[in-house]
Amino acid sequence: MTVACAPGKIILVGEHAVVYGRPAVALPVNQVRAEATVEDGEEGQGVIVVAADLDLTLSLKQLDPDRALHPLEMTVVGVLEHLGLSLEQNLTITVRSTIPIARGLGSGAAVSTAVTRAVAQHFAVELTSEGVSSLVFEVERLHHGTPSGIDNTVIAYERPVYFLRGERLETFHVGCAVTLLIGDTGTASPTKDVVGAVRQARQRDRERHEDLFDRVGAIAVEVRQAMESGDLGTVGLMMDENHRLLQEMDVSSPLLDSLVEVAKRRGALGAKLSGAGRGGSMIALVSAETRDGVQRALASAGAECVIHTEILPETGPTLCLASSAAPAKTDDWMI
Ligand code: PMV
Repeated sequence: MTVACAPGKIILVGEHAVVYGRPAVALPVNQVRAEATVEDGEEGQGVIVVAADLDLTLSLKQLDPDRALHPLEMTVVGVLEHLGLSLEQNLTITVRSTIPIARGLGSGAAVSTAVTRAVAQHFAVELTSEGVSSLVFEVERLHHGTPSGIDNTVIAYERPVYFLRGERLETFHVGCAVTLLIGDTGTASPTKDVVGAVRQARQRDRERHEDLFDRVGAIAVEVRQAMESGDLGTVGLMMDENHRLLQEMDVSSPLLDSLVEVAKRRGALGAKLSGAGRGGSMIALVSAETRDGVQRALASAGAECVIHTEILPETGPTLCLASSAAPAKTDDWMI
């Protein structure tokens, strides 16, 4: 049996603008994870994928060419093709995930990443992070249309990333420990719909939106520098400003706004929605002193759950890679 995992993710700053070629910063969230196991199946069974938490079983034995593939099927087909293997394998692939679905935490990309890694490892092939990211991006693209590629990148690399679509991917290290609380609104964030709404709004008023995206892009540049130098005060201020710009893009919601406000009132250094918005999650940057108070305040203000995550300074190389196939996302893999 082969087992592989992948973390969740949050977008620290830059969502939506990243779709239009501005930079964004995203972080892995190791406190939630997707896991895939691959076992040899019975002779003649073909490939069976079991999404254990969803009570969903898919058989890839006789795929109907007229039926759109489920993202899990696409993932398996993509990785087997990449490995030069046919669909005639006898495999049982079981997927489990603790990542809340459609909350801006990258559940779809994480599940695809775990499956891709597990299948490759099962056939004793070591894929690079870049290879995994590209394969997952293809699934995201087929399923989602126009993902920026940020989700599959941060999840496959499992490091903080500064992401600029189609141009370059840079991972970086934080200069000090960064503690974030993730408040889940309990409402699904329909990424495809919200991205579509922003696209339509931009078509109606291009100049205003390009200006908003430019301002968000400038924030991402500043946040990356501030994260590297350990200047959390600046990171917090930039998160607040990014939330205001996302409100101007009309992608916030009353609950997101009130969770952001509550977090700020309780002493968070910065707070904003994270991901597509209109639901999903918000994030708050906290210190050791403010963490518990903010966490309690978010729970009493209506957050369905609050996840605590920490990014620690690390040694080791930062990476700067050409992004060949832009890496991607999909939170609604099962809806
Ligand atoms: O809600 P999420 O995690 O799917 O984030 C969407 C991020 C967007 O920038 C809105 C879209 C994208 O593909 O980058």
